[in-house]
Amino acid sequence: MGRQLRSYDVQDQIGRGGMAMVYRAVHTELERTVAIKELQPSYRSDDEMVERFKREAKAVAALMHQNIVQIYDFWCNKNGYYLVMEYVDGMDLRQVLDRCGYFPTPVFAAIGLLICDALSYAHSKGIIHRDVKLSNVLISKTGQVKLTDFGIAQLLDSKDLTPSGVMLGTPAYMSPEQIQGEPLGPASDIFSLGVVFYEMLTGKKPFSDPTDTRVILDILKAKPLPPRRHAARIPRSLQRVVLKCLRKKPTRRFPAMEDLRKSLARYCVPRSGDPGAIIRGFLEDLAAGKTPPADLLPKASFMPIFIKLLIALSVMTLGFIPAFFYYLNRLPHSVP
Ligand SMILES: Nc1ncnc2c1ncn2[C@@H]1O[C@H](COP(=O)(O)OP(=O)(O)O)[C@@H](O)[C@H]1O
Ligand SMILES: [Mg+2]
Repeated sequence: MGRQLRSYDVQDQIGRGGMAMVYRAVHTELERTVAIKELQPSYRSDDEMVERFKREAKAVAALMHQNIVQIYDFWCNKNGYYLVMEYVDGMDLRQVLDRCGYFPTPVFAAIGLLICDALSYAHSKGIIHRDVKLSNVLISKTGQVKLTDFGIAQLLDSKDLTPSGVMLGTPAYMSPEQIQGEPLGPASDIFSLGVVFYEMLTGKKPFSDPTDTRVILDILKAKPLPPRRHAARIPRSLQRVVLKCLRKKPTRRFPAMEDLRKSLARYCVPRSGDPGAIIRGFLEDLAAGKTPPADLLPKASFMPIFIKLLIALSVMTLGFIPAFFYYLNRLPHSVP
């Protein structure tokens, strides 16, 4: 591209989001490859807002975790805001999912655990992500999982910074409390992660209407279709975990990211194994053209459990009637 941004040689554009462009660039002196996120100039505002933006970028930059994309540098000028970060050579989770269709349970659990680790750490530092979605989870070729765009939604979450009518966050992943503009806690990230988990397991969105207004109504009111209705391979207990993340009331979800992590650990096979190795193996298979088998299993039955119980009970009762008469017949008959 030949563009120079401070000490960085911009090489090519690697992504484009709702409000930003992402470039791959090389530091001219250090020769280190980085990713630079350029927020569009329309989000620039007065001095007070710039101050606030800087203050909050500082908080996000202080996050240091193996599953979080590291921030290296930050500046702003009349052209826009620039965030220089660790470059992850690989794909985002949306791109991987588009290739594989769905994640087999152990691979899902391995990736899920590492996202939980990242969020659990951020929550312990008082930072809520606010924009957890497939394209914000990066997977390196070596099987590392890194969450990115930390707090970006929070940085921009101000009427002064957003043009009117623009909704922050990505509607399909927003928690009910986020849609309603209420204060957000860790439970909001748990909800968005629930949407990500649902998609990873089924290849479908839980609130899937493509038009934004419908999605918003669904998130507020509709019950998501249980994941097993899409694919019966999903363990029933894992389905419960995902649906618990998607509860409307924040207090009815997992109390903390750590609790969600514990519920996932048992699906990571081998349990004591390195999640990175499971992910690496899966990526190697994908690169060799081996995708997980299409779902041949029948979809989970529609019949509610209590109807099944009722049928079982009736069958048992029917079996008892002849047994009862047989028993009566064998009783010694009293002679009058
Ligand atoms: N640090 C990074 N290293 C490599 N690729 C990145 C990095 N950050 C973002 N990308 C790529 O750029 C895409 C767009 O990023 P972003 O502007 O955050 O948009 P989105 O709204 O999709 O999250 C991401 O989905 C990812 O594929
Ligand atoms: Mg992003």
